[in-house]
Amino acid sequence: MIDFDKQFTEYRQAFEKVLNEFCSNLDCKPQILSDSLKYSLQLGGKRVRPVLMLAVGDLLGIESGKLLNFALALELIHTYSLIHDDLPEMDNDDYRRGKPSNHKVFGIGNAILAGDGLLNTAYSILLGECFKGDNYISAAKYICDCAGINGMISGQSADLLHENDETVDLDTLGFIYENKTSKLIMAALAVPSILCGGRYFSELKFLGKELGFLFQYTDDILDVEGSFENVGKSLGKDSEEGKYTSVRLYGLDGSKVTSDFICANCIKILEGIDGDTDFLKKFAYYVRQRTH
Ligand code: IPE
Ligand code: IPE
Ligand code: MG
Ligand code: MG
Ligand code: MG
Repeated sequence: MIDFDKQFTEYRQAFEKVLNEFCSNLDCKPQILSDSLKYSLQLGGKRVRPVLMLAVGDLLGIESGKLLNFALALELIHTYSLIHDDLPEMDNDDYRRGKPSNHKVFGIGNAILAGDGLLNTAYSILLGECFKGDNYISAAKYICDCAGINGMISGQSADLLHENDETVDLDTLGFIYENKTSKLIMAALAVPSILCGGRYFSELKFLGKELGFLFQYTDDILDVEGSFENVGKSLGKDSEEGKYTSVRLYGLDGSKVTSDFICANCIKILEGIDGDTDFLKKFAYYVRQRTH
């Protein structure tokens, strides 16, 4: 039986070693640019996507050394998406990871540039991996596609478009969540599979989609009943901003019941995969029960 917390911490620490090296070697001018990049990267963050990538690597026998640059690029993209997500013209959030949002510290212009800088740097890291072989090119492209206009960006665009809609329907909610949240989680799970020639690719993609939904449903629930101390973000923002959420579609209790159902679906998908899926099953329960 795996000790989930211990294993999670080991994956997180392996990733943060690479992230901290990246931050120490960051050398760009003016100083405010490197300060704003480091500020958001080192605020904390659960590092869910890198941890998932390393866990699937273990499942498929891909050593972490082959994955860590992909995990770094993905976390840079995720962090940029949060900096931009918090901007006044998007979700207008003053707090992130328990601290003032990037734009509250460095100003809106600098926060836009910090996000742009993280995205560009992620692409540079991914291009660097492409010299290692065809599977690396495919994995890099998969991350780019998940982050792009048929991925996270389209979800964020639809999220804005549907703000203050009077009614919420399941298809639109599904489109928003699959793209704004699931796509980066699908990328985390798919990269190790692509590097070993596509083993369990469709199962892992499907798992990423479902885990992403579960993650966003629990994010919506925490926006209603979480504590600032745990969540590190302003609460009650979704209803304040008229967001299109699972809580608006199902109500709080209905969202919890649906989350249980999605969690069970994640377990079912994992049961179709050979090998030691204990950590990933526990990961699904962790997302369902998370308080931060
Ligand atoms: C927040 O992601 C954005 C959503 C997709 C809900 P995380 O909850 O993974 O954010 P950090 O990285 O831990 O701050
Ligand atoms: C954010 O979703 C998803 C992305 C940043 C891509 P939310 O807007 O619900 O995330 P939080 O609640 O601000 O973390
Ligand atoms: Mg948002
Ligand atoms: Mg937001
Ligand atoms: Mg949210």
